[in-house]
Amino acid sequence: MENFTFHNPTKLVFGRGQLEQLPNLIPAGVKRVLVIYGGGSIKRNGIYTNVMKKLNDNGYEAYELSGVEPNPRLSTVNRGADLCKQHEIDFLLAVGGGSVIDCAKTIASAAKYDGDAWDLVTKKAEPKDALPLGTVLTLAATGSEMNAGAVITNWETNEKYGWGSPFSYPVFSILDPVHTYSVPKDQTVYGIVDMMSHILEQYFHVPTNSPVQDRMAEGILKSIIEAAPKLLNDLESYEHRETIMYAGTMAFNGILQMGYRGDWATHNLEHAVSAVYDIPHAGGLSILFPNWMKHNLNVDPKRFKQLAVRVFGVNPANKTDIETGMEGIDRLRQFWSALDAPTRLADYDIDDSKLDLMVDRAMKRGPFGNFNKLHEDDVRKILEMSL
Ligand code: NZQ
Ligand code: ZN
Repeated sequence: MENFTFHNPTKLVFGRGQLEQLPNLIPAGVKRVLVIYGGGSIKRNGIYTNVMKKLNDNGYEAYELSGVEPNPRLSTVNRGADLCKQHEIDFLLAVGGGSVIDCAKTIASAAKYDGDAWDLVTKKAEPKDALPLGTVLTLAATGSEMNAGAVITNWETNEKYGWGSPFSYPVFSILDPVHTYSVPKDQTVYGIVDMMSHILEQYFHVPTNSPVQDRMAEGILKSIIEAAPKLLNDLESYEHRETIMYAGTMAFNGILQMGYRGDWATHNLEHAVSAVYDIPHAGGLSILFPNWMKHNLNVDPKRFKQLAVRVFGVNPANKTDIETGMEGIDRLRQFWSALDAPTRLADYDIDDSKLDLMVDRAMKRGPFGNFNKLHEDDVRKILEMSL
């Protein structure tokens, strides 16, 4: 392993009815809270009413930023930062999925920065201060509820980047599986694909001694694979919502990545695709990940074999590591297809007409990937395989 320091300051408050704790979790001295949410799902499922009641009953002045888009936009971040400055907001409460949380994280730093929030996202400037934020998670997917990452899209330049700072960790996150009952089937599948992809990004790292991390990753993957079809047959199963919600957080809160750096190239590729076409993040991942794997199978066939055998139950007898690894990749593709996740960019009516633009956006920050560096020709090949 590489040397590492691990510090995750987010207080995780998990389980049925835990919204009750909200007033105790908001830091002392806070008066004005900006509640940030998306396109209205929290109004339809009643979470909005419950959150506002808790704030009002406990004497907080609540302001609102609504309409955060899936794939949150820079323009919305700037709108939120202006609201914070105008009303002297002292706490942000994100109520939603990854998009709402990422938007809130970026607003938190932008509110204390004199300039365009894009400087922070592009790392031209580093935040020196930020407003504190908490989250009420309504969709199990990104892990944003317990990490410092945020992904923001600039539609003026067709760029989508992840960024983060130590200020971006939520102070607390409330995870009630019941809050995810209303997530429709397609978004539930996207969440499952996203969290599995996060685990895979970390699983593929430069060889090092990581037996504990490997088995934790494999265990979470297997638990997701077991629970996912059952959940899709019963979207209001507390048990399966609970498993998937916990898995999503554990997949990307730093626990799996101690002692090495994950690959993360497929996420970079996907961000380039969704910077050009406004598609769901995990829809892109489900198409790209198996192709990234095929493209990189030769880099370390033993690692692909280990995944195939331990997670997908492939029998390695009389097969080369490459053959076993390939069978594992096929099983992953079949698993996601069986959940109705997309397999080709054509499923989103994406053809090769903007291939150059996607390649350009992917390469904007130079070659990427820690398991294997992808250069322009690799990126082009993987995108072509995905059409
Ligand atoms: O906007 P509303 O009306 O709330 O509807 C949302 C949205 O349409 C809906 N939804 C959320 N909770 C619901 C619900 N519908 C019914 N019932 C509920 N309880 O779901 C739709 C998608 O929401 P979104 O927040 O966009 O999904 P997700 O959590 O998958 O977030 C995706 C974003 O996160 C970024 C992605 O790039 C994308 O922009 N990522 C963030 C990461 C991070 N911060 O660590 C890592 C990820 O890899 C990812 O890149
Ligand atoms: Zn992701």
